[in-house]
Amino acid sequence: MAGEAVRIQKILADAGICSRRGAERLIREGRVTVNGAPAGLGSKAAPGKDSVAVDGAEVGAAEGLRYYMFHKPAGFLTALSDAKLGRATVMPFLEGLPARVYPVGRLDRDVSGFLVLTNDGELARRLMHPSYMVPKLYLASVKGEPDRADLELLGSGRLVMDGKRVAPAKARIVARGEDRGAVELTLTEGRHRQVKRMLSAVGHPVVVLKRKAYAGIPLDPALAPGETRPLTDREVRILKRKVGL
Ligand code: URA
Repeated sequence: MAGEAVRIQKILADAGICSRRGAERLIREGRVTVNGAPAGLGSKAAPGKDSVAVDGAEVGAAEGLRYYMFHKPAGFLTALSDAKLGRATVMPFLEGLPARVYPVGRLDRDVSGFLVLTNDGELARRLMHPSYMVPKLYLASVKGEPDRADLELLGSGRLVMDGKRVAPAKARIVARGEDRGAVELTLTEGRHRQVKRMLSAVGHPVVVLKRKAYAGIPLDPALAPGETRPLTDREVRILKRKVGL
C-alpha cells in the first residue's frame, strides 16, 4: 500500500542510502529524481506509489532487505562520491551486488577491513548510534614497542579527545618486535580517526590499521580485500540483537 507523501531526505535515509544531510547533497547535485523529474530540497514522494531514483537506480522497498560483509581494501574512501578531489571510493565494489546497499559507518581511506553493507536503514542507523556501543575490533601495527602501561592507559578511560573522555578500550599486545608492535583494540565508540588518535596519544603512531571484527562477528578470512559475501542469517541476528531489533 502506498504511504503518505514524505520528504525525499527521509525516504533516502530510511532506505539506508545516506543520512538526511547526505540526501540534501545528492538532491543539490541533481542526482535524485521523483517519477523521472529532478527532485528539489522540498520535494515529497509517497513510498510505494512514487518512483524515487538516485543516479537512475530506483530506491525501493521492493528490493527487500539485504545484508553483506565487505572486506574494504585500503586506498578507497567510504563515501558515495568525492566531488571535490575525485578520489576512488568503495562504491564500484558494491555495484555488482543484486541490491543497492550502503556501508554502515566508515573506515578511513588508508584502513582496510570489515564493513557491513545494507539497505536496512533502521539497522544501519542503530548500529552507528553511540548509545548501542557496538564493539569494533581493530588490529593496529604501530611504531615503537607498546607495553603494559600503554595498555593500561588505553583501557583506563582517562584519555581525552576533543575535550571528551574516551570510553575505555579493550587492548592487547599481539606482537612485539624491534621498534614495531601490533595491538588489538576493541572500541565501542566511533569517533573520527579514533584508533589512530588513541595510539598516537600513548606514543605509538599507527602504521597499518585493519578492522578485524564488527559486533563480535569476525571478518571472514576467506574474503579477499574488495570481496563481499552475504551475511548469514545467524550474523544478521547477532547484529539485530546488539541494537534491540
Ligand atoms: N579508527 C581510525 O583511526 N580509523 C578508522 O578508519 C577506524 C577507526
